[in-house]
Amino acid sequence: MGEVRLQKFLADAGVASRRKAEELILAGKVIVNGKKIMELGTKVDPQQVNVTCEGRPVKVATAHIYIIMNKPAKYVTTAKDQFDRPSVLSLLKKVKQRVYPVGRLDYDTTGLLLITNDGDLTYKLTHPSKEIAKTYLAKVKEIPTEEKLEQMRKGVSIDGKKTQPAKVSVNKIFDKNCELMITIHEGRNRQVRKMCEKIGHEVIKLERISIGNLKLGELPVGEYRMLTARELEYLKQKLT
Ligand code: URA
Repeated sequence: MGEVRLQKFLADAGVASRRKAEELILAGKVIVNGKKIMELGTKVDPQQVNVTCEGRPVKVATAHIYIIMNKPAKYVTTAKDQFDRPSVLSLLKKVKQRVYPVGRLDYDTTGLLLITNDGDLTYKLTHPSKEIAKTYLAKVKEIPTEEKLEQMRKGVSIDGKKTQPAKVSVNKIFDKNCELMITIHEGRNRQVRKMCEKIGHEVIKLERISIGNLKLGELPVGEYRMLTARELEYLKQKLT
């Protein structure tokens, strides 16, 4: 959102009209981060600043937004990248608010990514105790035996720690490869790739198709939309 003039900040917070807010500033009624401010040009960052007016705290209620994106490959899910690779945030052409992805998807992974500015929801969604199911389609080299799939279901050791039980089934069979449908409840680094590697079947392509009941549906790769009221209601209920 960036910095705004103090009088706009006060007006946006519903304290008074912009003109009246200017009068309050000039009258020395506004305290910013503990300091009386009487200059009208003063700029503040609504996300960071601590303001009181006539002794009462002033808060701007930031409207939360919730975006569902079909992440393309070759994009990172961090805002900045050490190799200067493009961020998914650069695809949000129409979004003015400062938002961030919930959790991460690898550079080469495609599929369902939630993006929001709701810190509380992000915290709950990524917290291990909430165990929200995430389903992936993983195209792997060759066709794993039922025995190997059973190992994955029961848990395999990756980075020295056993994975929790997972749902794993063969979704499609190609000539030499196959596509697995894998549902996990954790979000460890490169978890699906590592689970498949562990049973000897390297991942060639990985897509996340759902988080809980939220599905990508027909959303084209690289596009995004706002969550519907029903989807948001579902998520909030799931996380209480
Ligand atoms: N597991 C992975 O290996 N990569 C992802 O991007 C998500 C889950």
